[in-house]
Amino acid sequence: RERSFVMLKPDAVKRRLIGDVLNRFERRGLKVVATKMMVINKELAEKHYAEHAEKPFFKDLVDYITSGPVLAMVIEGGECISLIRKMVGATNPKEADMGTIRGDYAIETGRNMIHASDSTESAVREISLFFKDSEICNYILPDEEIIYEEP
Ligand code: GTP
Ligand code: MG
Repeated sequence: RERSFVMLKPDAVKRRLIGDVLNRFERRGLKVVATKMMVINKELAEKHYAEHAEKPFFKDLVDYITSGPVLAMVIEGGECISLIRKMVGATNPKEADMGTIRGDYAIETGRNMIHASDSTESAVREISLFFKDSEICNYILPDEEIIYEEP
């Protein structure tokens, strides 16, 4: 099964939304296999968002993501990279569908609460940027055989 890198940004942590958001992933049947609360430094922020280095909002983005603690995590599940992107919703929360995380909780693009990997390649890159292999837990959920056609 796939693994995705997901991060609750400082606004989500400060608004006490960790539980609400994690609950959505757990309800869906996804498996949290690693978490880490940390304050990201500028260097890691710039590496994580390197694809946006030339964008006009880059400095604001780095300031935002380093402005307080984040909850970095690895989530595992069947085709979970695209599934989680769908659950997160559009980058601009005003355009995000109701029922998505951004559509239900956020208002502005620059405070859109959550990051999720957008492809297999970015998931691999981001997971290795934030976690050592030994920090990711392998375990079986007893209901995997109920949730998946082929456990
Ligand atoms: P991430 O999961 O965080 O990567 O969001 P995304 O994939 O939906 O969007 P994208 O990778 O294009 O942009 C990364 C992040 O930069 C966004 O989530 C926003 O926090 C921020 N961002 C993108 N566009 C803008 C913008 O026009 N203005 C501001 N202030 N921030 C932006
Ligand atoms: Mg992105």
